[in-house]
Amino acid sequence: MTNTILTGDRPTGKLHLGHYVGSLKNRVALQEDPENKMFIMVADQQALTDNARNPQKVADNIMEVALDYLAAGLDPSKSTIFIQSQIPQLAELTLYFMNLVTVSRVKRNPTVKAEILQKEFGESIPTGFFVYPIAQAADITAFKANLVPVGDDQQPMLEQTREIVRDFNNIYAPVLVEPVAVLPPKGSGRLPGIDGQGKMSKSLNNGIYLADSMDVVKKKVMQMYTDPQHIHVADPGRVEGNMVFTYLDVFGTDSEKIADLKAQYQKGGLGDVAIKRYLIDVLDNQLTPMRERREMFAKDPAAIYEMLQKGSEAAEKVAAQTLSEVKTAMGINYFK
Ligand code: TRP
Repeated sequence: MTNTILTGDRPTGKLHLGHYVGSLKNRVALQEDPENKMFIMVADQQALTDNARNPQKVADNIMEVALDYLAAGLDPSKSTIFIQSQIPQLAELTLYFMNLVTVSRVKRNPTVKAEILQKEFGESIPTGFFVYPIAQAADITAFKANLVPVGDDQQPMLEQTREIVRDFNNIYAPVLVEPVAVLPPKGSGRLPGIDGQGKMSKSLNNGIYLADSMDVVKKKVMQMYTDPQHIHVADPGRVEGNMVFTYLDVFGTDSEKIADLKAQYQKGGLGDVAIKRYLIDVLDNQLTPMRERREMFAKDPAAIYEMLQKGSEAAEKVAAQTLSEVKTAMGINYFK
């Protein structure tokens, strides 16, 4: 079956291992199936919803995110990589969708609720931020995407999108496609940070980034939260909640060796430094090719912008077609 896939990221910082296991890895796999048509969006407008006073930060991070995409293995000859703000049809579609969603419905979105607290907006929520789930529905439906690979914090956005699609198709005409989320494999959905405190995130400063040098990765692994009761090498240690083993479960390839290390660690006699050294090796194997690709692409920023411009032009054609169908369905394509 032919699938149309759309997903994206806010350009507010570099991408980290949580993004990699949560979504990038899925995308690279989906991209390799020639039946799939994939659109990858740098969501700069969504990033601006809480960075309106700092557009330079968003602009700078468009380049970082694009480099992370290429580093992770996304390939512009197979996937259309584009910038949200360059597709005006997305904003137009958002406007029509806003009329289908009540304020109380948006208030119930658990991800939006959590972000309002986390960003400490209090009563001062930017309107554009508040309605971003509706804009996200426009992003997805403009491409008639049936699959959306995202981390599980994005599930409420998919639910909102599906509701909008059903309403739109019922009220006007069945032109929009109801998408489903492609979630990361169980267990890798929310990669915890190196401190073991919740998921890897920029705000908690607990991430390992795709662009981190090997020295930085080593330092971060050496600081990883393990088992605070495991004081002497001879002491039995805990594997559950021990970030080194959590990461080995996600990134390791030699499951027999990992099972062995776990058994030894639990029995006592295996030190934290030894397991950390092994994790450094495992991460080195995966991150070094990505970092090398990133460094190579970073040498030619003009080529990256050109790739993004071409992608945006291709994306706009698709979105314009959908928007025309939407307006016809609504009976507002007055001059056609
Ligand atoms: N909300 C996503 C994030 O926080 C970014 C995004 C914007 C997105 N529009 C999208 C993801 C459409 C999937 C589909 O990074």
